[in-house]
Amino acid sequence: MINVIGLGYIGLPTALMMASHGLEVVGTDYNTDLVDTLNSGRTTFKEDGLDELFAEALKAGIKFTTEYVRTDMYIISVPTPYDKFSKKVDPGYVVAAVKDVLKVCPPDATLVIESTVSPGTIDKHVRPVVEAWSAETGNKINLVHAPERIIPGNMVYELLHNNRTIGADDKAVGEEVKSRYASFCQGEIVVTDIRTAEMTKVVENTFRAVNIAFANELARICRHDGMDVYEIIRICNMHPRVNILQPGPGVGGHCISVDPWFLVGDYPSIAKVIDESMKTNDSQPSFVLNRIHEIMRENGITDYARVGLYGLTYKENVDDIRESPTLQLLEAQERHLAKPLKVFDPLVGKKVVESQVMDYDEFLKDTDMVVIMVKHDHIKASWDRLKGKVVLDCHNICPLEHVYHI
Ligand SMILES: NC(=O)c1ccc[n+]([C@@H]2O[C@H](COP(=O)([O-])OP(=O)(O)OC[C@H]3O[C@@H](n4cnc5c(N)ncnc54)[C@H](O)[C@@H]3O)[C@@H](O)[C@H]2O)c1
Repeated sequence: MINVIGLGYIGLPTALMMASHGLEVVGTDYNTDLVDTLNSGRTTFKEDGLDELFAEALKAGIKFTTEYVRTDMYIISVPTPYDKFSKKVDPGYVVAAVKDVLKVCPPDATLVIESTVSPGTIDKHVRPVVEAWSAETGNKINLVHAPERIIPGNMVYELLHNNRTIGADDKAVGEEVKSRYASFCQGEIVVTDIRTAEMTKVVENTFRAVNIAFANELARICRHDGMDVYEIIRICNMHPRVNILQPGPGVGGHCISVDPWFLVGDYPSIAKVIDESMKTNDSQPSFVLNRIHEIMRENGITDYARVGLYGLTYKENVDDIRESPTLQLLEAQERHLAKPLKVFDPLVGKKVVESQVMDYDEFLKDTDMVVIMVKHDHIKASWDRLKGKVVLDCHNICPLEHVYHI
């Protein structure tokens, strides 16, 4: 039986996927509301295919509880934020979960850390806890790191098809864990050591952050001298070995905007490109805010109440708002003491910021300027609604005439 600890964006789909593929699974989360919701037959966030997977897992007998259970394998998928000051990973949630597992687990249990951690975190923060427990009880625990790569919006498909990495001290234990993941994963599963697995996960997200920062920097250079960044990228990408990403309003979520900081925190005198890239991405919402002011001036718009931000989530077609560029932009605006811009997001059903409007008609009413922060399918389905308004399109998706870009 597998006890999945932490039933958030990663733990829940993983637990459901394993249960629906024949493994006996108990999902544990210390958030009682979350566990109550799952036990009442409802999922806790929106994601393509998640409800169907949930129904299959329930049929297969998955259980949800706030208790840790005694079993031979644990998967820990709890948050790993970064310390805003030191930039290093904050291993507090992982260590706390490991300590709780050690209170109930039998000898020789396998403890799989799925949470993203910087290289060396398991050796530095988890291993000493496990070794102290071993010294006290005379028992052994198998440590494994199995980082997750799935992208919100396509989680169910990616769980089934992505390649995976498993890092273990002991190759045989790694192979055993691989066989459990292989019950549902059709991708290739590489077994390596723990530090390599830790580093690969962080490097993958860093690669993406650096490439996004490059596109964002190009947008700023082009804006500075009146060049069309989209046309320039389009032509550059016709080169057989060039593949530049598109610029955007910033980076959010709990991966690309967080994990690369771990390397900056751990290797401050070496990780220079990464540091600058993260600063570029982090300041992109302020760059958009400056563009909003420029365009307001150009169009004689003086009242902030007549400007609306479309989109509050950190990416399209998901309901996750964590670290979203829109939230970052509102924060930057607050620092300048301006009246907050109104916001609308069709996927965010409850009010999370004061200036949020819950209805699209109401959002568009008395709005002279719309800023497209997120490219939800919802907005693409009704471009006519924006006719006659000033539009700042941060994603170059709006087909209307006279649209502004970043
Ligand atoms: N969200 C993503 O897209 C994504 C993708 C890949 C990897 N990751 C990584 O996966 C990990 C989990 O991320 P997430 O987005 O699922 O986080 P989340 O905040 O959505 O979920 C974490 C859950 O863990 C629970 N929890 C925390 N400590 C606990 C404990 N000691 N015992 C029981 N429950 C506990 C919380 O209540 C919460 O429900 C992080 O390390 C993250 O970096 C996330």
